[in-house]
Amino acid sequence: MTAHRIAVIPGDGIGTEVVPAGLEALQATADRFGLRLHLDTFGFASAAYWQRHGTMLPADWEQTLRGYDAIYFGAVGWPAVVPDHVSLWGSLLQFRRTFDQYVNLRPCRLMPGVRSPLAGREPGDIDFVVVRENTEGEYSSVGGRVFEGTDRETVLQETIMTRVGVDRVLRYAFDLAARRPARHLTSATKSNGISISMPYWDERVAATAGRYPGVRLDKYHIDALAAQFVLHPDRFDVVVASNLFGDILSDLGPACTGTLGIAPSANINPERDHPSLFEPVHGSAPDIAGKGIANPVGQIWCGSMMLEHLGHPEAAAHLLGAVEDVLALGPRGAPLTPDLHGTGTTAELGHAIAERVRERP
Ligand code: NAI
Ligand code: MG
Repeated sequence: MTAHRIAVIPGDGIGTEVVPAGLEALQATADRFGLRLHLDTFGFASAAYWQRHGTMLPADWEQTLRGYDAIYFGAVGWPAVVPDHVSLWGSLLQFRRTFDQYVNLRPCRLMPGVRSPLAGREPGDIDFVVVRENTEGEYSSVGGRVFEGTDRETVLQETIMTRVGVDRVLRYAFDLAARRPARHLTSATKSNGISISMPYWDERVAATAGRYPGVRLDKYHIDALAAQFVLHPDRFDVVVASNLFGDILSDLGPACTGTLGIAPSANINPERDHPSLFEPVHGSAPDIAGKGIANPVGQIWCGSMMLEHLGHPEAAAHLLGAVEDVLALGPRGAPLTPDLHGTGTTAELGHAIAERVRERP
């Protein structure tokens, strides 16, 4: 078997603490399933690199990363040294755009041992995936200001929806729904208020649905959908949304499932023309960085998503199962981190999960 080539970019703050824990669990899983991983770690996309070079990335970053099968990313951002818009636009957003990672995938699952802020919800009640369009839509740079500083001051920013861009993310979402047991896709829209682009989105959803007779489809206006996420999260399986709506839903969803520290995400180029990038939802957390108490589960779960993307669904499920087993032991039975009401460290929780990967049947 050939080795998968993975570029590892820890970044800043707790990124440098959770990535080693993530790699330990990933390597344990690879060993268990006989997979070979070739890992190269890079120091760019960090405040330390910026201090030395005055840029976030080397000039040849694209050639450097292009040869990898995937990028395993921690977190970037250290506002005391680099302004956030510089660090984010200078690194992560370059990767997403250059590598056409047009699907942003965020699983939302209530894990055993984790308290949901929603009363009475149990593991099993919340288990859905948000598929967000990641390259166009409302986040366009088309627009501008005219008559600045006068009474006629006018500001415009256009939403861009292309048939290629809409159809490809819809196909991804339908394919994903078709593979899951519930075979249910929800589309986020607002065609009652946004009367040109959103009816177009709905039209493309309807056109695509014809090719997926096995998938049950429904749609909600985004305002009602946000309310449903809180009131009836159990009703969702795969949710597809434009860039802005997906951005909002993909923070709301994980918020309903407890701590930010466990939420993973993937930025995917489904055609595999370019490497995809796997990163926890959280940032570099300067408030707890250096203390060794960051929750590594989001980073570890990213490893499971990466294995799935690399074509190893059984290994991916095994790793996620090990995470669930350890979380289910609770703060008395496992070294859970303080955000999970335990007193464990990042390294201890990482070791416990890697150990469970080796031991579980
Ligand atoms: P953050 O996600 O870093 O932290 C928010 C809060 O959640 C903090 O109180 C933090 O301690 C806590 N938290 C986050 N991850 C945790 C974990 N694994 N375990 C336990 N607690 C955890 O967001 P914030 O503070 O808004 O941003 C800090 C820096 O991170 C900024 O520079 C920001 O730009 C950057 N950032 C980077 C992201 C990325 O690399 N994709 C995403 C979000 C923020
Ligand atoms: Mg967001």
